[in-house]
Parts: sequence; C-alpha cells; structure tokens
Amino acid sequence: MAKEIFYTAVDIGTSKVCSIVARVGTEGELKILGTGVVESQGVQKGRIENIEEVQAAIRSSLEESQRYIGRGVISGVYAGVSGTHITCLNTKDFVDYPSDSGHIGPDQLRDLIESAFPQVDDSQEVLHIIPIGYQVDGLTAVRNPVGLHAGQVQVEAHVVLGDAAVLRNTIKAVEASKVSVKSLVVQSLASAEATLTGDEREMGVVMVDIGGGTSDVMIYRQGSPWYSSVIPVGGNQLTRDLAVAMRVPFYVAEEIKVKWGHALPETLRGDEEVVVPSFQGQPRRVVKRRDLGAPLHARLVELLKLVLLRVRQSGLRQLPTGGLVITGGCAETEGLQALAQKILGGPVRIAYPRGIAGLPTQLRKPTFSAGIGLLLWGIKHQGEKRRYRNGHRTLWGAKGKPKQAKKERGAETRVSVG
Ligand SMILES: Nc1ncnc2c1ncn2[C@@H]1O[C@H](COP(=O)(O)OP(=O)(O)OP(=O)(O)O)[C@@H](O)[C@H]1O
Ligand SMILES: [Mg+2]
Repeated sequence: MAKEIFYTAVDIGTSKVCSIVARVGTEGELKILGTGVVESQGVQKGRIENIEEVQAAIRSSLEESQRYIGRGVISGVYAGVSGTHITCLNTKDFVDYPSDSGHIGPDQLRDLIESAFPQVDDSQEVLHIIPIGYQVDGLTAVRNPVGLHAGQVQVEAHVVLGDAAVLRNTIKAVEASKVSVKSLVVQSLASAEATLTGDEREMGVVMVDIGGGTSDVMIYRQGSPWYSSVIPVGGNQLTRDLAVAMRVPFYVAEEIKVKWGHALPETLRGDEEVVVPSFQGQPRRVVKRRDLGAPLHARLVELLKLVLLRVRQSGLRQLPTGGLVITGGCAETEGLQALAQKILGGPVRIAYPRGIAGLPTQLRKPTFSAGIGLLLWGIKHQGEKRRYRNGHRTLWGAKGKPKQAKKERGAETRVSVG
C-alpha cells in the first residue's frame, strides 16, 4: 500500500504553538486529521529567545497531533516565522530574447524569477520570491507569459527576507522533534492565504494578524503580495496595560480582557459593570466595563495607527479598495472592527480561516488563521525548493553565492519598500 502523505503545519506563536496535520482527499480536498495546541514558552514578539523551551513546546504539540494519525509518520512540516527581522523589497529584472525558440518556456520563466534573487549579506536569508507580474515587450500586467513569443520579458517580484540566525534557530527548534522543515513561511503570508478572498487580493487589501506578541502585516495589490512587515505589538501588551491599570496580575488581566475587553468602550452603556475576581488574598471587586476598555482602546488606537503607517510606507496613500482584514487571536476583541473603521476608514472585516470545507469547529477561530494558512501555502507550493541555506538543501552555490540566472543583463531596479 502506498505510504500516506501527511501535510503538517507548525505555527510557533508567542502565545501558543499549534501543529495541524492534514491529508489531501481523493477529490483534492484538504482534510484536517488532528491538531496539537500547547501554551508557547520561550518566544518573545515572534522570535525564539529560549530554544529549549520552544523545542519542548513544539515536541508536545507534535505528539498531540501524532495521536490522531496513529502509526502515520510526520516527516516534514511547514513552519511559520515572524518577528521584526522580517523585511521585504520589490525587485524588477528582465531578459532579452528569453529563448532560442522565440517563446517563453517554463524553464526560462523560472530562471527569470531566480534572477530577481537579491544580493543579501550573510546575516540575511531570502524566504520568498513571489512574482508580482510580468511585462512582455512593453505590455504590462501580464500574469502568465509562458508560451508567448517575446523579444524582452521583465519580472517584478516581491521578496521577503529574514535574519539568518533567527531562521536557523527556528529550523533547529523544529528539527529537534526529529521532523524536517519542508519550508519556512512568513506568518503574514500564511494568514493571508487562509483569510483573503480572490476579490480582496485583486482590489488591493491590507491584512493584519494580531497575535500575542506581534501584528503581522501583508498588503496585496492587483492580486499579488506587495508589502510585508511585522509590528512588535500584540495582545500581550493589551493585557499588560490592563494589568497595570487594574492593579492585577497578568493572568487575571488576561481573563478579564478576553471576557470583557472592548476596543470602543464609549459605545458601552455607562452602567455596565464586571467583576474582577479575587486573587492572592485580595477581595473581588466590581468595576465599570468602560474603565476596563480605556487602556485597551488606547493601545489598539496606537496599533492601528502603526498599521496605517505601514500602509503609507508601502507606497499607498490610503487603505486600498479591499480595505482592512483583521485576524489572529486579538481579532476577537469586541468593538475592534468599529474602531478600525474609525481610524483607517474604508471597509474592515474580522476574518476567520476559510478555504477548507469541513474545517473542525475548534479551528474556526482567527487564532488559527496562520496555522491553516501554513497548510494551504504548503500544499500550493509543494515541490518548490527551499531558498535559504541551512547546511544541506540550498539554492546557493558552495561558495555561498546566489545562483546566476541565464540573462542578458543584470538587475535593473530594486525598490525597497521595507
Ligand atoms: N476573545 C478574545 N478577545 C480578545 N483577545 C483575545 C481573545 N482570544 C484570544 N485573544 C488574545 O489573542 C492573543 C493570542 O493570539 P494568537 O493565538 O493569534 O497569538 P500567537 O499566534 O501565539 O502570537 P504571535 O503570532 O504574536 O506570535 C492573546 O493576547 C489573547 O489574549
Ligand atoms: Mg500568530
């Protein structure tokens, strides 16, 4: 009997480590087989700071998932990466006379995309090179030039970069569980994969995954990724602000925030009250729900303004027509949609993972968008080589130089938007 192929995602978040195992059914549909969600340890703002703790969390998450597939073997995983070390740039490159036969073949196209590989120093790695569009003999916005006869073809690509040491630590943390990393995927791309509709991507859209330690931003224009960035602010800050304002420990503030937190407390009734539970010998207290919302409101306004700043840094003057899509654990904060609409203007949607029929109920939450997206991304891009160096599989030559594409002339423009 043929060995069953499992697809496994590992989302290493600041709050939780989540692994999801799936297989592709006979009709090509994705079937979720099991999940393992454990509390995260050793991750600060999306970046590993204690590798042993992270390794232990990944191991127990994978063990939990393993129970759902019995003797099945999880051999490789798609792992998410985040953190402020993630940067991006958009490059343009072109070749004259792409082939002897006169038309562009898949090989020429692959070489052309590889030619968009930027020169990076040893401290960085290229995570993704995503074609944005092609120009064929002056004809712009060509989506797929394969098969076209052409004198010159130009590619524009979105390139995502990460810090080499951070990426190596992520691989090391996963591979300690005796599974290999099939690919590292930037979290924002994964969350976008699981939440955005085709129309939103075409119209242009800003997606933000607000997690515990980071807010991962991905902007799409004309159907393609255009800008990616990580803001080092997330739900943990909200909880800390609330803990200070209410003079309670972090765990009490977290419980109150999830149950009663509100992003736009001015819309609440003035007489609504909530109970702050007793802790460490302190008696229980009754407080106005509006007062709880005030510090959360202030921090979320600051965060949304940072998102707007990123929109401007990407080269856009305002929110694109597709608006803002918010996912990640904090997306469930009551009143957030209305607050975001007020700050950014344009349509705002709170997004749950989509694109999988029969998604188990427990995974239908914004906190799982990145994990589900990692799976979707992995299946779409299976067979692609990993781009980063990590000692064995690599696109890089023995001397660490980028592979040379077959092209007439070198890189033309490099537009840094990161
Ligand atoms: N119902 C809720 N209302 C408000 N906040 C919530 C709710 N549920 C979860 N959160 C918050 O979401 C955050 C966790 O989100 P998520 O699980 O997406 O984080 P993560 O992926 O582990 O972290 P990161 O992506 O930042 O590394 C926590 O701060 C938590 O308090
Ligand atoms: Mg996350």
